[in-house]
Amino acid sequence: MTGHDSAGHDAPGAASPAGAAGGRAPHQLWGGRFALGLEEAADRLNRSLAVDHRLWPQDVRAARAWVLALGRAGVLAPDEEVTLVGGLERVGERLADGAAAGAPDEDVHTLVERLLYEEVGELAGKLNTGRSRNDQVATDLRLWTLEAIAEIDREVAALGEALVGQARKGLDLLLPGYTHGQRAQPVRWAYVLVAHAWPLTRDRERLADAAGRTAELPLGLGAVAGSGMPVDRTVLQKLLGFDRLSPNALDATGDRDFVAETLFALALLATHCSRLAGELQAYASSEYGFVRLADGYSTGSSLLPQKRNPDVLELARGKAARLLGDLSAMVGLLKGLPAGYSKDLQEDKAILFDAVDTVLLTLPALRGAIETLEPVAGCMERALDQSLLATDLADKLVGAGVPFREAHTLVGRLVRAAEAAGVGIRDVGTDVAQGIHPKLPGFIATLGSWDDSVERRATAGGSARAAVQAQIEELATAFQVVL
Ligand code: ARG
Repeated sequence: MTGHDSAGHDAPGAASPAGAAGGRAPHQLWGGRFALGLEEAADRLNRSLAVDHRLWPQDVRAARAWVLALGRAGVLAPDEEVTLVGGLERVGERLADGAAAGAPDEDVHTLVERLLYEEVGELAGKLNTGRSRNDQVATDLRLWTLEAIAEIDREVAALGEALVGQARKGLDLLLPGYTHGQRAQPVRWAYVLVAHAWPLTRDRERLADAAGRTAELPLGLGAVAGSGMPVDRTVLQKLLGFDRLSPNALDATGDRDFVAETLFALALLATHCSRLAGELQAYASSEYGFVRLADGYSTGSSLLPQKRNPDVLELARGKAARLLGDLSAMVGLLKGLPAGYSKDLQEDKAILFDAVDTVLLTLPALRGAIETLEPVAGCMERALDQSLLATDLADKLVGAGVPFREAHTLVGRLVRAAEAAGVGIRDVGTDVAQGIHPKLPGFIATLGSWDDSVERRATAGGSARAAVQAQIEELATAFQVVL
């Protein structure tokens, strides 16, 4: 890193790639060994600033920590340390004011260094002492990922809270519970909603788990084999808030497991959102009519004046495809790489940013749609047909000592007789029911209300009132965001 001065940024090798915007000289972190500059096509492929400029807050933060660590190690004199820290602060301010827009630099690290030259002159050339972009970018991206996970986690908790809020209001609404898309047994609307909330608690666990492994610090490992400067990495770890140090430079500079793991957690989260949105989309149709989306979360059709489209739900379902694509792109990127840094890894950021952006775009809209959803009690009730009580009848026969398999067959016969007569199972003629089993007419008479049926399933995790209420309370605690 010699040969730099504040006016000499286009020294050797910087034969002005065409990307140099607005006549500004590009800053280069390398070039001494080249006689000629990069060809335009190669330069366009190589540069990543358009994507990685988003890492500037992390890059500046890590640079500051690096300066402090170099100072502690005696590599920088105290006055140099002070000047560099002050310079980085001003670089941060300029970047916050938009200095990255249209910048000619290869990547965010080059940009930060160029701005630092502009602030403190030649001394900026000491910033990268013992540091490489390989440990630098791995550190920046881990910092960024930790922040992204924290933000997503808050949004997932808020979505969970929205489901819990609707569940509290929907405790007394009954509708068919479906398996195979067929009406199976009556359940509470609250129960359906919390069924979609539980996966979100697992998503949060997975995100926390991914964050735990992301909080490992590569900084101070240099390009491949460790830093040549006697820097205390635990100082860096504390300054940057990491849990521990990466144990091996070759591994850490090429390790993007934390990106892949985060992408998996996000792909599964998006899958859960997709299933929830898809189910609500069906329930919002005229065929079911169980829910009505608020105006603010419904869209119209350009041709059909009567339409009230659930675009938000369909997009939440559609976006999950992107997340799955991002995950497979990332694992595909990694699978052929040897240990250590390869430039392939530059692709990690576009993939991760897309996934995080997509999730952060989707979650608030889905939450809003759920918060403002109106359940339609009448439609839910109308979908409850008497066949949903078949299991209750079989259970009653079991109570009278009939083995369940036989009870199942007997009630099956009753259902068939009801179908043939075009009536519900409660309205089959007494003689017919009696012919199937002498106790059936009495049991039919004691079936009670839909609510009675639901209350008969009172095991923990069932859809009886107390069991659902217990789940609601557990989930409400789980989604409380600890600030
Ligand atoms: N822009 C690069 C990336 O995102 C930074 C690391 C470059 N390292 C290198 N040895 N060229 O991966």
